[in-house]
Amino acid sequence: MGIARLTAAEAASLIKHGMNIGLSGFTPAGTAKAVTAEVAKIAAAEHAAGRPFQIGIFTGASTGMSTDGVLSMEKAISYRAPYTTNPEFRKHVNAGEIAYNDLHLSQMAQELRYGFMGKCDIAIIECSEVTPDGKAYLTAAGGIVPTIARLADKVIIELNHFHSPDTKFIHDVYEPLDPPYRKVIPIEKPSDRIGVPYVQLDLNKVVGIVECDIPDEARSFTAPDPITDKIGQNVAEFLAADMKRGIIPPSFLPIQSGVGNIANAVLGALGEDKSIPAFEMYTEVLQDSVVGLMREGRVKFGSACSLTVTNDCLKGIYSDMDFFKDKLVLRQSEISNSPEIIRRLGVIAMNTAIECDLYGHVNSTQICGTKMMNGIGGSGDFTRNAYISIFSCPSTAKGGLISSIVPFASHIDHTEHDVNIIATEQGVADLRGKSPIERAKAIIENCAHPDYKNLLWDYLKISTKNHTWHNMAAALSFHEAFIRKGDMHLVDYSEYLK
Ligand code: COA
Repeated sequence: MGIARLTAAEAASLIKHGMNIGLSGFTPAGTAKAVTAEVAKIAAAEHAAGRPFQIGIFTGASTGMSTDGVLSMEKAISYRAPYTTNPEFRKHVNAGEIAYNDLHLSQMAQELRYGFMGKCDIAIIECSEVTPDGKAYLTAAGGIVPTIARLADKVIIELNHFHSPDTKFIHDVYEPLDPPYRKVIPIEKPSDRIGVPYVQLDLNKVVGIVECDIPDEARSFTAPDPITDKIGQNVAEFLAADMKRGIIPPSFLPIQSGVGNIANAVLGALGEDKSIPAFEMYTEVLQDSVVGLMREGRVKFGSACSLTVTNDCLKGIYSDMDFFKDKLVLRQSEISNSPEIIRRLGVIAMNTAIECDLYGHVNSTQICGTKMMNGIGGSGDFTRNAYISIFSCPSTAKGGLISSIVPFASHIDHTEHDVNIIATEQGVADLRGKSPIERAKAIIENCAHPDYKNLLWDYLKISTKNHTWHNMAAALSFHEAFIRKGDMHLVDYSEYLK
């Protein structure tokens, strides 16, 4: 007898208030979505009847509207980890309604295995194909699937016909053992494969297959603008110069590129700069720009956890699998983001900052120190272990009312010890080998917007000149000016400058 077929609503009815569910996917790519949309309807009905209904969610990274979106709107999430980008979810987290655990993405699967986050009751796994003996072929992401499939009491399969069964050619499924038995993860170049192309499910746990045909929910990008183009060009020129000086080997090193509009633009610029040879990627997400660069021969190979691309781009890959199958591999997040491998390969990490301070501390997650934006994602996994770690951002945000270069970051995700390079449209600050005050001067001179340079120099003037120059009473003065007066230009140091 084969695996039972269920409707999405029947499968959702297995999920009860208080359960934790584990989801396939990484970013909206490959995320289970048919069943969660039905769970949101159950939550709405239960709440209307005056009964509680909330669940915990474990995922690989962010999800899309049919998961974080609708469940947040129905106030159906009690706990969630790790990364997220959904605006609805953000609203409810910042309202204090959801216990959100933001951790490095490489750590998600192992922390579930270690028992740090409680039990996984039901795993929902999106597949492009499943065999009668329980081999599940994943879709557009590796995520944390082998772990949740093994830990969960029950497994629901979403067989999503939107995806091509040819995804089997691009997965390399590998789950490490836990300490003290963990072995070396034997990846020595981005294209190495170390596992099998499927997740082996325990058929005793599989409660049914939900067939569906639902597109992925990856966001499209805003078109590059002069600012993002200039940031991209600055980063590309900086890397080309480092190669010329012999700091980067002439064959170049694998690139990691973060999420969002700026990362997409930086990668595009790198591809266009012909003084940089064709390169490989060892990264967490592959965005649209990489796929174009592969077709042009500028990116030779891409290792990632997900294809976080627009649906047109995804369909293009599926229809051209003969071209892509030896140029792409999708891995579990604990492998795509493994500190061991990143350090071994000498990955050049390029991520986006919300703000950077004068000493090189980077805030990737909290607006004005309190409002969660997205989460740290894999930026810490890569930054801390990179050959060179680069952060980019526009020098200002919100039409110039906010300086992205501040005296002291209002929240610190990446410390001064881990950040090598800051790039804005104004220029590039090379922090390598520099003392704190040398870093501060390089950042003001090269990265700050001209409107804010004098205020930042003034901040150094009013600082206590110890090893790290700070005026602790005024360290968050830029943020205070924005919160109180809506404009960082209105910071006032006259009291200290007397
Ligand atoms: N203060 C307040 N708001 C700020 C800000 C600041 N200093 N800097 C940026 N913002 C706002 C922007 O105005 C924009 O707001 P909007 O959506 O209302 O327009 C928003 O933050 C996103 O900024 P944008 O310039 O469009 O950048 P992005 O799309 O490249 O995203 C991050 C930037 C930092 C949010 C994104 O890269 C991220 O989530 N990073 C953390 C995870 C990560 O790095 N993962 C990669 C590992 S592989």
